[in-house]
Parts: sequence; C-alpha cells; structure tokens
Amino acid sequence: MENKEPLIITDKDDMRRWSRSARAQGKIVGFIPTMGYLHEGHLSLVQECKQHSNLTVVSIYVNPGQFSPNEDLSTYPSDFIGDINKLKNKADGVDVVFHPKDLYDYGKHDGVVNARRNDLEEGKVVSCVENSGQGHETWVRVERLEKGLCGSSRPVFFRGVATIVTKLFNIVEPDVAVFGKKDYQQWRIIERMVRDLDFGIKIIGAELLRDPDGLAKSSRNVHLSPEQRKKIVDQESLEVLEEIKSPAVFCIAAWFGNVRLLDNMEIVV
Ligand code: PAJ
Repeated sequence: MENKEPLIITDKDDMRRWSRSARAQGKIVGFIPTMGYLHEGHLSLVQECKQHSNLTVVSIYVNPGQFSPNEDLSTYPSDFIGDINKLKNKADGVDVVFHPKDLYDYGKHDGVVNARRNDLEEGKVVSCVENSGQGHETWVRVERLEKGLCGSSRPVFFRGVATIVTKLFNIVEPDVAVFGKKDYQQWRIIERMVRDLDFGIKIIGAELLRDPDGLAKSSRNVHLSPEQRKKIVDQESLEVLEEIKSPAVFCIAAWFGNVRLLDNMEIVV
C-alpha cells in the first residue's frame, strides 16, 4: 500500500496545467467527481478508476448549481481532512485532489445580478447559484433523460449536474471518468452528454456499494437515525420493518407512461 499524499489543487488554471503536463507525458488521467464526505462507495470508484488510468484526480466540490434553494445545500456534510486521510489510507492514494472554492465566481458580475433578480421575481425555477445572484447563465441540459425519475421532483438537479460535470471536464481534461451506478440516472445522463457533445472522455459506470444492512452507501446517510435506516419492508407481510430481520425486501413502484412498474430487491442479512 502506498499511503501517498495527494497534491491538493484549488485553482482551476493550476488544475488544467497539471493535467495537460501529465497527458503530454503520455499518462492516462482518470477522474472521479465527488461532493466529498467520502465513504467506501466513493473509494470503490477510485479503485475502479485506477484500472483504467495511470494518474487519478478526485474532485471535492459541493455544487450549488444542483441544489434548489429549498434543498439541503447548507447542511450537506463535509470533512475535508477526513476525506484526504481516507484517500491516502483506504484508497491506496490518489495523485490529485481538486478542491476549488467557488466554480461560479467569475469576478465582476454586477449587470447580471439584476437580470437574475428578475428571474426570481417571475417565480422561475432556480438553483442556489441563481438564488445568490451570481453571474452564471449557461446550463447544459440533457433534455429527455433529465425529465424522468429524480428529475420530476428535483427540477434543477440534472441540469446542475450536467453543467458542473462539463465545467469539471473542461478544467481537469481527463481521459477517463468514473461515475457510480448508485446514481443510475446521473450516470446515464453523463454518458449521453459526453456522446452528444463529443467530449473525448471515456465514461465508466461503477457498481453500487452497500452497507451490510443493505442500504446503499451515501454521504447523506449520516442524517438518518438508526431507526430510520432500518425501515425496509418485511418480505411476507410487506409491513414496514422497525428493524431489519431477514428476509427483507426493498420495493420500488414507478410510473412509465401510464404503466405502473414494480421492482424490488430481496435482502438477506
Ligand atoms: P456524490 O454524491 O459525492 O457522488 C460521487 C460519485 O460517487 C457519484 O458518481 C456517485 O454515483 C458515486 N457513489 C456514491 N455512493 C456510491 C455507492 N454507494 N456505491 C457506488 N458509487 C457511489 O454524485 C455526485 O456526488 C454529484 O452529483 C457530482 C457527480 C459530483 C456532481 O456534483
């Protein structure tokens, strides 16, 4: 095990310079975008990335563009030092951690602030970026794929993800990027965006990692009480379980057009 200290880069021009120099030396640069508060699921993406690249960049950036003003941006958990230690000790080291301060701060933007205020007054759906009046205007939309599933309840989410991933791709300039299939719609949207916009980047979908009780690992799990994380339904009675007793089952019901589809996954603990 290497226990390598990553180089921490906060400036986007420095990031681009590092990557260009690595690629000029014939290295394959692999990239894992994250919002930090890393767990084993993220670290499994790092391992996957290493199978496809010589050098690994992990970004840690909580993207205000994918949160609505009524969502949990301000309470999104963070632990930068802990993240660096995990990357060093558990993921065998990465080469660079890109940790920018604000990717929507372009310096002077007085004129645009008023335009944004008008949007807000007209009741348009906005993200935290527009809500704070910053001068960002350009959004990437994967028009059909962004509408379904999570897109219907989170109207700014996927355009925020597609936009920040585009910005990160333009800054990091990787050869390969890894996304988790946990966020299945997000992975498919990025794949489609890369194809449609001719990014020269290979997208890898990595398998979902679960905790032993079956719950998908997530930075947000920290907000669940032990009681909440145990609610899964019983396989026979289909009553919500107060605690996980084998055998349990996760159930999903979804509308597809006017057809209601069901899926489930049995869990044996
Ligand atoms: P974040 O939620 O931090 O996730 C970063 C990456 O880790 C995503 O590709 C996600 O699918 C993957 N991931 C999270 N939990 C996982 C698990 N249990 N098993 C496998 N992979 C897992 O997704 C985002 O950040 C953001 O939307 C981002 C793409 C960084 C854009 O801001």
